[in-house]
Amino acid sequence: MEQSKIQSAVSSCRYGKCDGSGMIIDKENNTVKFCKCREDSIHERRLKFANIPKEFKELTLNSFDLDLYENSESKFRAAMAKKAAVNFVKNYDLMKQLGKGLFFYSYVKGSGKTRLAASLGNALVNYKKVRVKFITTLDLLEEIKNTYSKNSEITQNELLNAIKNVEVLIIDDIGIEEDKQWVKEIFYNILNGRMVGKKITIFTSNLAIEDLKHDERIKNRIERMATPVYLPDESVRSKLAKKENEEIQELLFS
Ligand SMILES: Nc1ncnc2c1ncn2[C@@H]1O[C@H](COP(=O)(O)OP(=O)(O)OP(=O)(O)O)[C@@H](O)[C@H]1O
Ligand SMILES: [Mg+2]
Ligand SMILES: [Zn+2]
Repeated sequence: MEQSKIQSAVSSCRYGKCDGSGMIIDKENNTVKFCKCREDSIHERRLKFANIPKEFKELTLNSFDLDLYENSESKFRAAMAKKAAVNFVKNYDLMKQLGKGLFFYSYVKGSGKTRLAASLGNALVNYKKVRVKFITTLDLLEEIKNTYSKNSEITQNELLNAIKNVEVLIIDDIGIEEDKQWVKEIFYNILNGRMVGKKITIFTSNLAIEDLKHDERIKNRIERMATPVYLPDESVRSKLAKKENEEIQELLFS
């Protein structure tokens, strides 16, 4: 007892149960067991690895708000998309077995595509302990370009393999990349690798799969890997901005 008090005073274990190593040694019975803090630190590492943008880090599927959409068609589409995301988490084991992801798209900017994909990612990390990685298309290509530099710590192949092997990859905003041959080759390489490995990929885009400026071999792969989910063509972003401005005006001018 005395020892555990001392331990809690000096260790980094938030429960004061171990020396911060995540292991509890029971000297009397000569056994070792895992401390509760071990699971916490694995979870924290998983969240860090996921790299969900700050804006969306804490957001849940539950708080994906359907009332923000004005017309009934939009409300319906948003409700279906939310339902698909919730059911995806519920049926994650089956989805994993099938290697099937989702393709969230709508033609209007600010309609909630990234919001929904990111909160789906959060739910997979928090409830299914999945290793998720969120990356925007532009960052993905930038990271690949950086491996060309002679100062790069990893080779392009190492990076591509890491991307191909992530359990769930969220590629945000596919379709905004340059229409260049090397970009197409990179996408082909990543998506083919993930398809063959039956890895789940979640996409967001301002275009439907068939409208992407990629050749058929890439589009066919996306079609096989992900079920399209059409979000409303309505901007929640402008609505929220308008509301915020009104509140600020009220504060400043009243
Ligand atoms: N259904 C929703 N409930 C709550 N907040 C939402 C919802 N949809 C969007 N938002 C908020 O509106 C803003 C814009 O959403 P988001 O970034 O997901 O749009 P997008 O469709 O990805 O836009 P873009 O096409 O520009 O990438 C964000 O701040 C997001 O949190
Ligand atoms: Mg977006
Ligand atoms: Zn501990």
